[in-house]
Amino acid sequence: MNESNVMKSEINRRRTFAIISHPDAGKTTLTEKLLLYGGALDLAGSVTAKKKQRETSSDWMELEKKRGISVSSTVLQFEYNGYRFNLLDTPGHKDFSEDTYRVLMAVDAVVMVIDAGKGIESQTLKLFEVCRQRGVPIFTFMNKMDRPAKSPLELIDQLESVLNIHAYPINWPLESGPFFKGVYDRLRSEVHLFEKTPGGAYRAPVSVRDLTDKQVKDVISDDAYTEILEELEMLDIAHEKFDLEAVHEGQMTPVFFGSATNNFGIELLLERFLEFSQPPAPRKAGGETVPLEGPFFSGFVFKIQTNMNPKHRDRMVFIRVCSGKFERDMMVTNSRTGRNVRLSNTHNLFGQQRETLDEAYAGDVISCITNADLRIGDTLSTKKGLAFNEIPRFAPECFAYLVNHSPSAQKAFRKGLDHLLAEDIVQSFWPAQEQSPIPLLGAVGTLQFDVLQYRMKNEYGVDTTLDVKPWTALRWVDPSVSEETVKKVISYDSAYGEDDCGRMVILFRNNWSLQYFSEKNKEITLHSSPAAL
Ligand code: G4P
Repeated sequence: MNESNVMKSEINRRRTFAIISHPDAGKTTLTEKLLLYGGALDLAGSVTAKKKQRETSSDWMELEKKRGISVSSTVLQFEYNGYRFNLLDTPGHKDFSEDTYRVLMAVDAVVMVIDAGKGIESQTLKLFEVCRQRGVPIFTFMNKMDRPAKSPLELIDQLESVLNIHAYPINWPLESGPFFKGVYDRLRSEVHLFEKTPGGAYRAPVSVRDLTDKQVKDVISDDAYTEILEELEMLDIAHEKFDLEAVHEGQMTPVFFGSATNNFGIELLLERFLEFSQPPAPRKAGGETVPLEGPFFSGFVFKIQTNMNPKHRDRMVFIRVCSGKFERDMMVTNSRTGRNVRLSNTHNLFGQQRETLDEAYAGDVISCITNADLRIGDTLSTKKGLAFNEIPRFAPECFAYLVNHSPSAQKAFRKGLDHLLAEDIVQSFWPAQEQSPIPLLGAVGTLQFDVLQYRMKNEYGVDTTLDVKPWTALRWVDPSVSEETVKKVISYDSAYGEDDCGRMVILFRNNWSLQYFSEKNKEITLHSSPAAL
């Protein structure tokens, strides 16, 4: 095969996706089971650990408690049937947070895990909306069918009415709770009967049969069997047909029922995911569609994490490859700074293990240990001037100063704050009227502050408190407006200043004062994201 064909076939076999869910729905368990079925784990049971104090802890804190292979490693790679899967972790915070959003910008599909006993929960809805906006294919896994579950028809209805997406059940559960036996694959007209294994550590033995098979009838009660037949008939007659194009456009979600802890339905999900998902699609930089095969390399930074390994205070930058072939030690240009950056020290991550990465193609994620001036959203390319606009910034709604009360910890405090701000855990601003030596911090959800304080304490040994400020809205001022103009009209209940890139912003106490300001000062154009500037 010549180089161009190698590249095409490498790109075609890549599937880059994330799992989204409300906390506790089973994202971690499903991740582990996908690894088990993907052959990356011999024995399941090493990813999950009891998650205590879930109410107060974030994923960051939880991952500290996990043992062995940790999904905190941001990207897990595994091979299945000749395909290369890149599974990206989405932090499952209770609050909406920017880092989750950024990860979703780097994937080509998502698996949405729903607890079948609870149906759609708040966090699922928010994450779903983000995916919907991008039009990525969404696969739904109705988990925990081994527990009392809502009726499958009700779950399908809920997907359609609450999420406003067409839902096509690829398989249908054979009873639920303690009587959950398996699923009927509607596309292949096959029943998959599963057996439990101790602790769900091994692949669940499965027997594949016809729905009319005596063995199937024997394990299901007569009433349940009749009901299942009726439901299936109703789905065939009254429900819409499977439409792969609608799946690709994110308009229809294929639905799978199963139980992650028991390994029921995992292989069917994996197989169908492979069948229905697509390889990476070309992305746009400015008005230009960047061809996957290059000829130039390009990618964007979607996550930065410092101190991943507490023994070596390193800073790891995660880059989603969008075009061309990455080769170790490659020199690329950062389009924001115009500077050259050498991508050395690049890795494949599998849990705690790092493997040196020599090459990568569109769809892959490169993790690179570097102190170069890289920020989230930066485009790196061998072609100068290319800039993906994939990662928008959100207008923060909570504001505070981080306070250190111990003079002896001042140096560690500044260092920690600098490092963690470089990760964009929170945004930073400099209000003009306040002569503070440290920036005002802004977050979309207060959990971002919790993570910051937790990490300041854990990684830099600094106890901090928050000096919460009364602002609840922020807007970026159009660059056509001068500071003098803003200064003249700013009222007592708002403030102006700059963000960390020197762009002018105005802070408001509430949405009412924001609206009032906008109506009074029509000549001052405000933006809810700096992307529009
Ligand atoms: P998350 O990452 O989405 O937050 O969820 P996670 O996988 O940690 O699962 C949350 C809890 O739900 C775990 O229980 C897990 O075992 C359980 N769970 C996941 N899938 C299933 C399933 O198919 N059936 C049943 N019955 N339970 C399931 P835990 O008590 O928090 O921890 P553990 O000690 O069981 O690991």
